[in-house]
Amino acid sequence: MNSVTKRSQAPVSRSRSVERLVAGTPTSDGAGVRLTRVLTQPLQHRLDPFLMLDAFRSDDPDDYIAGFPDHPHRGFETVTYMIAGRLRHRDSAGHEGLLENGGVQWMTAGRGVIHSEMPEQEDGVMEGFQLWLNLPARDKMSPPWYRDFKAEEIPSWRREDGVEVKVIAGESAGVRGAVTRDATAPLYLDLHLPAGTVLGQRLESELNAFLYVYRGCATVAGTEVPERTMAILGNTQGDGVLIEAGEAPVRALLVAGRPLNEPIVQYGPFVMNREEEIYAAVSDYREGRLA
Ligand code: FE2
Repeated sequence: MNSVTKRSQAPVSRSRSVERLVAGTPTSDGAGVRLTRVLTQPLQHRLDPFLMLDAFRSDDPDDYIAGFPDHPHRGFETVTYMIAGRLRHRDSAGHEGLLENGGVQWMTAGRGVIHSEMPEQEDGVMEGFQLWLNLPARDKMSPPWYRDFKAEEIPSWRREDGVEVKVIAGESAGVRGAVTRDATAPLYLDLHLPAGTVLGQRLESELNAFLYVYRGCATVAGTEVPERTMAILGNTQGDGVLIEAGEAPVRALLVAGRPLNEPIVQYGPFVMNREEEIYAAVSDYREGRLA
């Protein structure tokens, strides 16, 4: 379903303000993929239920070609959104898919998967994001789940002035996203704002939320959010967020979710509630019981 219609979104009377700007940390992961870790471990409680956001964008194959060979996950979900390039996914549950040009892969690791995420190109631009969404304690050992969505399967809406919103998760202007989750109510929008436009998105105050601008410079409640910067949005000031594009177009991710308020213990690719559960995950992986 791809809804491209003239819609008016629910009005926002007062915008949340920017609590903090975060530039992200250059790092490398997998077999040496260079990326920017936007949401880092110290922000996991503030942005509960989100655990991590990585952004990668390069036209140099040396930055991405090594990919992410076989590695495990347990206890959360990964959402991979490719803007450009091709990424092949294979996992121990027998799933395989090719993610490209606007496609989304949503994977629930649950009790555990071992998977690889490898570029399928030797040149050109590779650009995308991986978001980690926590699972409530009761679901951390649930069976793994996986789905690939091609770009045309991501619901979206478009306004007459050219504003376009892709609804990866949650709901925007009456358009329901590709994925919904009861416990964390995640909202994951890719926003395209032509120069001079303003977009409002209602957000309940209990939701933790952030904006990541990946093209141009946006303004939120008077604060400029430069390119490749995350703005953590305060919870108490408004009934939503108003995002303004200035003289240049803006592309940004808007992410929000209901906090779980449960203990978070992370050891690399395992995110559980207690240390004992981490030890169990490591030994299950080493002894071949994880997948
Ligand atoms: Fe992974």
